[in-house]
Formats: sequence, C-alpha cells, structure tokens
Amino acid sequence: DRGVDAAVSAFAAGQPVLVHDAADREGEVDLVYPAGAVAPADVARMRNDAGGLICVALSDAVCTAWELPFRQTLVDHPAGASHELDYDERSSFSLTVNHRDTFTGITDSDRALTIAELGAAADDIRRARTVAGEDATGAIAPDAEAFAERFRAPGHVHLLRGAPDLLDDREGHTELGLALAEAAGVAPAVVVCEMLDDETGEALSPTAARAYADRNGFPYVEGSDIVSRLG
Ligand code: 5RP
Ligand code: CA
Ligand code: ZN
Repeated sequence: DRGVDAAVSAFAAGQPVLVHDAADREGEVDLVYPAGAVAPADVARMRNDAGGLICVALSDAVCTAWELPFRQTLVDHPAGASHELDYDERSSFSLTVNHRDTFTGITDSDRALTIAELGAAADDIRRARTVAGEDATGAIAPDAEAFAERFRAPGHVHLLRGAPDLLDDREGHTELGLALAEAAGVAPAVVVCEMLDDETGEALSPTAARAYADRNGFPYVEGSDIVSRLG
C-alpha cells in the first residue's frame, strides 16, 4: 500500500505521518513522529495543530530494559482499581518523565529535549539488542538506574508502553507507530499526539486530517493498512 510505504519512508527521513487507528476503535488520527527526530518546532506543531496529549511510545523491550511499568499498576487509589475503556482492553500509559537537563519541562525546547533524548536512549537499547541477538531480552540486564540517571518522574511527557507482540497484541496508535518505526529501521520510540478539531473540540475527522496531511505534505495512513502490511 502506497500509504504505508510513504509513512515508512517519512519515518526513515525523520518526518511525521498521520495515523488513523480505526472507525470502530478510538476513531482518532494522531500526528506521529520518530522521537529521535523531534525539535522544538515539532512540539509547537503538535500542540498548535494536533492539540491532544503529547506522548512517547516505547517498545516493550525498551520498557523492560528500563523497568518502566504500566501506570495503572502504580495507582494506589480507588480511582485506579478499575480502568475500563469502551474501545480497548487497557491503556498503554506508563510514567510521565522529563529529561534531567530540562528546567520546568513544559516548554517546546524542554519537551523536545525529553522526547529526542528518549529516542536516542531507545536507540542505544535497540543497538545493544541487535548486537546481543534476536531474542536479547535475557541478555540485557534490566537497569532502571540507567534510565533514572537521565530522566526524572513525574514529568511533562507521557510514556506509553507498547504491547510485547505489537500489532498481534493490540492495534492502538502506540503499536501502529512502533510498527512504522521498526519497518523504517529507526529507534523504537515514537511521539504521538491526537488531532483535535478547534471548532467542535471533538476528534478531528479523518477527512479533515487527510486534508491537513495533504496541505503539509505528510503521509496519511490507515491503521488497517499498517496491520495488513506490517502486522
Ligand atoms: C494518549 C492516548 C492516545 O490515544 C494515543 O494514541 C495512544 O493510545 P492508543 O495506543 O490507545 O491509541 O490515549 O493520549
Ligand atoms: Ca486515547
Ligand atoms: Zn490513540
């Protein structure tokens, strides 16, 4: 599918893509970038043009290496006792973080630093796993301290933990974005941000999101096409 090929090429070049999950899931279009390529102007685009929550999805292998849990397991409050969603089995939220070299953590430059450094750090894990071999989960000792040396929590960037078998397990923007990163040969760290409609406050329609993509020269891709090509 041309949409998927264009999206993979864009990712390999550090460019963003628009990803619609499915009409029978969230029915949302996220603006998605490979994390390592993000600069302050990209954070400005996400908050001005997309408007949703700025999150970095990391692969299950990277989250295992850094011992990053699902956030729900940490909520010691009745509000976290049940986390029922109408559109999926579970959310992929993990910690919120800031890079230790940020000041408040929220500015475009601070968030870009956190996001790009997550991408660089995830790339280090990816390279170590490549050297160690295909199934290197056992070969790389989990090291939460290594993560904590560079990042503090809580912070202003939401982490999302990808499902272990990506699209075989779950078809959220988390896994759709990580599947594009894998196909593009970039680090398993992608930023996602929902496109919202400034007029209505609702999710931006796929038609309007596609028009935005065309105006800006960004690929627009359907989740079902990513699943059939890369799943
Ligand atoms: C974080 C979210 C978004 O929906 C994001 O797209 C990741 O979630 P999912 O993988 O469930 O689509 O809730 O703002
Ligand atoms: Ca969501
Ligand atoms: Zn989503």
